[in-house]
Amino acid sequence: MSQSKLRVGVLGAGAWAQFAHIPGWQRDPRCEVVALCDVDIERARDFGRQFAIPEVTDDWQALVSRPDIDVIDVVTPSHTHFELAWAALEAGKHVLCEKPVAFDFRETQRAADLARRKGLKTKLGFTFRYSPGVQYAKSLIDEGFVGMPFIFNGYEQNSQWLDPQNPLRQVDPDADQSVLQTSSLEGYGAPIIDIGHWWVGADYARVTGVMRNFIPERMVRATGRMMRMNIDDGDIYIGEYTNGAIGSIQTSFVTVGNYPGIEARLYGSEGAIICRLVEEFGVAETIKIARPDAVEFKEMEIPQRFYPEGGGPRESWRSLFYANLVKDFIGEVLAGGDHNQGNFDDGAWVQETINAVELSHHERRWVDLPLPR
Ligand SMILES: NC(=O)c1ccc[n+]([C@@H]2O[C@H](COP(=O)([O-])OP(=O)(O)OC[C@H]3O[C@@H](n4cnc5c(N)ncnc54)[C@H](O)[C@@H]3O)[C@@H](O)[C@H]2O)c1
Repeated sequence: MSQSKLRVGVLGAGAWAQFAHIPGWQRDPRCEVVALCDVDIERARDFGRQFAIPEVTDDWQALVSRPDIDVIDVVTPSHTHFELAWAALEAGKHVLCEKPVAFDFRETQRAADLARRKGLKTKLGFTFRYSPGVQYAKSLIDEGFVGMPFIFNGYEQNSQWLDPQNPLRQVDPDADQSVLQTSSLEGYGAPIIDIGHWWVGADYARVTGVMRNFIPERMVRATGRMMRMNIDDGDIYIGEYTNGAIGSIQTSFVTVGNYPGIEARLYGSEGAIICRLVEEFGVAETIKIARPDAVEFKEMEIPQRFYPEGGGPRESWRSLFYANLVKDFIGEVLAGGDHNQGNFDDGAWVQETINAVELSHHERRWVDLPLPR
C-alpha cells in the first residue's frame, strides 16, 4: 500500500456517488478520497467543493493510472463499468464497482480472473448484503439457526417508476422496441439474487422465469421525451439450487411500496428468518425469526456490532448500508489474504443467473446452469 491511509479515486459524480459512495468513504478514517473524476467537469467541480475532495478531473484514464491511488471506485452509468473497472485492475488498483460489471457474465468473470491473477480485491455494489439485518441473519444462518435450507423467497420491489413521467435513466432509447429489454431483473434483481446465493450457500442447477412490461410509455432522461419503452418493469423466476433447496425471486419498480423494498426469507429444517428492508415510519429494516417450537415470528433487535460507526436503526438506508459495504472492503484490502466477500466472482454468478432467466423468458423454457462458457 502506498500510504498508511488507503487512497481512493472515485469515478462518477452522480446521485449514487453523492448519497452512498462518497459519504461511505469519508466516514471511515482508514481511507481518504483524494481525487474524483466526472466526464462532466462542472459536476466534478461541484462535488469537489461539496465533499472537500482535493483534486477533480474529467480524465478518467489519467486518474486510474496514478501510482499514488490504491482503490478505484466505479459509480458511473452501467454501460461504462466494464471498461473502467478493467482499466483500474490493469493499473493494479483494488476496485469497487457498481453492478453490473458487464451485461454478459463472461466479461465479469474475466475481470474477476484478472483481479485474482494480480492479487487485487474487488467489490460489487451489492448494497443490501451489507445491511445490519442481512448481516445479522447471515451470522444466525452460519450458527445453524435455520438448519438445512429448504426454501428461499426474495423480493426487490417498490414504486419508483410507477409514474411514467418519472424519467428513466440508463435505458437505450435506440433499442429495438419489439423485443422486451431486461431492466428490473438486472437493476433490482442483482442484490436479492446475491443474498439468496449467500444465504442458501449453493449455486443454481436450473431456473425458469418470466419478465413483463406493464407501463408501455415512459419519460426517458437522456431525451426528455415520452416514448414506447419495452422494458421489463416486473419479473418473477423460480430456481432449484444444487443442494436441494428451491427459491423464488420477484422484482419490480412499478409495485406499490417504499424504498428499498427488499425482503429475504429463508425457511429450513430448524428455523426461519425474514428480513424486511423497507423504509416505513422511520425504520429501514426489521428481522424476524421463528422455530418449530415457537412458530409466531418474533422481531429481533439487531446487535450494535452490525452497525457502522455512529449508525443506528433510524439512519437512512442509503448511507447506512453503504457505510458497512465500504468499511468491509477497506478491512479486506488492509488485511490482505484471500477473504473478499461480494466480489466480482459473486457478481459473475449473479449475472449468469440474470442471463439464464433472460434466456428462459425469451425461449419459454427451463435453463440449466452453468451456462456455456
Ligand atoms: N447499488 C445500488 O443500490 C445502486 C443504487 C443506485 C444506483 N446504482 C448504480 O450506480 C451507478 C451510477 O448511478 P447514478 O444514479 O449515480 O447515475 P448518474 O447518471 O446520476 O451519475 C453517473 C455520473 O457518471 C458520469 N460519467 C459517465 N461516464 C463517465 C466516465 N467514463 N468517467 C467518469 N464519469 C463518468 C456522468 O457524467 C454522471 O455524472 C449506476 O450503475 C447505477 O445502476 C446502484
